[in-house]
Amino acid sequence: MNKMINVALPKGRLGERVYDMFEKAGFPCPSIKEPNRKLIFENKEAGVRYFWVKPSDVAIYVERGAADIGVAGKDILLEYSPDVYELLDLGLGKCRMAVAAKVDFRDRRDRTLRVATKFPNVARAYYAAQCREIDIIKLNGSIEIAPILGLSDVIVDIVETGSTLKENALEPIATVFPISARLIVNKASYPFNVEKINQIKEALASQCEE
Ligand code: PRP
Repeated sequence: MNKMINVALPKGRLGERVYDMFEKAGFPCPSIKEPNRKLIFENKEAGVRYFWVKPSDVAIYVERGAADIGVAGKDILLEYSPDVYELLDLGLGKCRMAVAAKVDFRDRRDRTLRVATKFPNVARAYYAAQCREIDIIKLNGSIEIAPILGLSDVIVDIVETGSTLKENALEPIATVFPISARLIVNKASYPFNVEKINQIKEALASQCEE
């Protein structure tokens, strides 16, 4: 029997590009392109079922086995450390995690640094490695506002084009790590479906080299 492989895709523009790679890899599901609000799509012949999930939730679906495989940003993998295998760097969604501050910011190392971020674990690990005492201010979005309003000294956030920083009179101070989309797999599912998952991985990998 052709076992269905469940694939969690990150909803949004990145997810659509990832789906195109899966389609090219030989796992199409044309109904996914129809304009509707459905979240689950399957192609029985190709043995694949796709779900659209919030990008930050992909790793949860894969870790708990609701999806066999999925595509998640390295930022999410480093923040939540899900118990999954990371199989491949898809080379999509490239950006970086960076520290940024107001253009005129002068750091005083004798003071606790106030850090606003959506990524508290990443920020904590980054400053712990520098033995720097920090106070984390966990926000859920529009992080760039925090230093402008005096809520924080710096932010740790994703920078892609840099326009959000620039347009809010902030500048990057340091890069924490580069980010891109990764193919991840559930640890229990992998050995059971190794042939098919490796086939998907190889077909995606060959597109990354193009
Ligand atoms: C992300 C990130 C920055 C912005 C960076 O925010 O948190 O705010 O994109 O992109 P840029 O360097 O190309 O300007 P997102 O759009 O996810 O919204 P958010 O404010 O809800 O985090």
